[in-house]
Amino acid sequence: MNTSSYEEVIASRAFREDLEDLNLAIADGLKRAGEPVAINGNVCYGHLQQDFHLGDLVPGMEPKRRALHLLAQDSSCFVEVGVAGGHAALLALHSNPALKFIGIDLGQRLKASWPPVDIYVPIVFKWLEDRFPGRVKLYMSDAIEGLRQAAAEQPFGPIDLVHLDALKKTRSAEVEAIWPGLAGQCYLLQGDNKNGHVQASSEKMITEGRARRVTAWQFQDIQSTNYDVLTIGPDIVTGNVSLESLMGQRILLCVCHQDDETLFCGSTLSRLKGKADVTVASFFRPAPNRRDTNTREAAMQRVCDAVGARRIQFPFAVENDHRRLRRFIKMPSQPVENPPEVLRPLGRHPLFGLLSGSAFALMQQVKPSTIITHNNVGEYGHIEHVLLHHAVLQAARRYQDANVLSFGVGLADADLVVPSWPEQKNRLFDEYMPQWKGRNLYDFALSDEGFVKQDLSDDD
Ligand SMILES: C[S@@+](CC[C@H](N)C(=O)[O-])C[C@H]1O[C@@H](n2cnc3c(N)ncnc32)[C@H](O)[C@@H]1O
Repeated sequence: MNTSSYEEVIASRAFREDLEDLNLAIADGLKRAGEPVAINGNVCYGHLQQDFHLGDLVPGMEPKRRALHLLAQDSSCFVEVGVAGGHAALLALHSNPALKFIGIDLGQRLKASWPPVDIYVPIVFKWLEDRFPGRVKLYMSDAIEGLRQAAAEQPFGPIDLVHLDALKKTRSAEVEAIWPGLAGQCYLLQGDNKNGHVQASSEKMITEGRARRVTAWQFQDIQSTNYDVLTIGPDIVTGNVSLESLMGQRILLCVCHQDDETLFCGSTLSRLKGKADVTVASFFRPAPNRRDTNTREAAMQRVCDAVGARRIQFPFAVENDHRRLRRFIKMPSQPVENPPEVLRPLGRHPLFGLLSGSAFALMQQVKPSTIITHNNVGEYGHIEHVLLHHAVLQAARRYQDANVLSFGVGLADADLVVPSWPEQKNRLFDEYMPQWKGRNLYDFALSDEGFVKQDLSDDD
């Protein structure tokens, strides 16, 4: 994948030369037809801006240009309704040299007040085909018809980025038309988002469970009323989890101890770096008698820095106070065969309310769409992991707005398996060295990482 920054792409000679060449082709065509040199508003220029081809990129659309750049780099097949001057297409194709583009435009001047799309859209189609052979497929067609055709033909395989930027009242129908061609997860860039019909279509899709708003931190600083970014696709409807589905999400990882984030989730955190907004909270302080009591929190901070995550440490619990806990949870000798038995209501344990209450407060503050935590067997049979599992699930039931995944260690099946990334994970383990021997102690330390969806309707 190309990782050129937005600034690099915009300043690159290749982009500048293409932009100039495309603009000149449009301007020449319009002049020859006796029309003023002005086109529809787009990611580079204003609506009906006279002699746009002589002006700079408009600053007001910079947030949307940046969003498109990020989305293009994270996608492989981009469909756009409303190609107009091809400016969004050009920026996306330059942002990611592996990206394929499907463009749909009616190319008809339905109202006299419209710019002469009938003149310049065919010029733009030809220019894109000549400049990017094999990377573009263009349909001179009405939005719905073109989307249906693109979904049926899928000239470049499943679609994972859609930009709707023409009509404002038919967005839900447009999403429906392209739906059969979508990858499991697909970004939806909603253009003209100041429009009430466009906003209502997003809210409707979210309410229907067909879409989720993208909350990743990369988009937080470039928010603009001009656009909105959602994730749509079959995986959103079925609740399927994949590594891709976690990208763009706000994730809260709730662990007992410093190092649990690395042991159970280190490869996953490394793969999500820069692609999701991750907060890691540890609920227990290190026991006072450890060789690494005073270094663990700093080590965890370095791990969080390395994976681009925020770190929270709660102050009130200290590990190893197990005597009382064993009166509440009976750990089996064979963890996989017999899950731990809850002997009396956990709410009566003096720590449980604090753990659950602080987890809930953190959820309200962070507003995660996915929560990851320990499982009901405590992974390799750790009683505090079991306690936190129940506390976080109770909090997630009150919070309601997130999917919950537990770690897969100790469980037979996983809903999501993230391939191990041993070099990265070893680097994270190294932060806890030399006192810590976990890498050799736990046979799963460098294995693939599994996660299991938690059913929040169960009152466990
Ligand atoms: C705002 S411009 C698109 C700008 C472009 N997405 C960009 O950012 O560079 C809108 C385009 O939508 C096209 N359009 C209008 N009605 C349409 C329809 N029913 N189906 C397909 N395209 C349509 C117009 O021809 C025009 O070129």
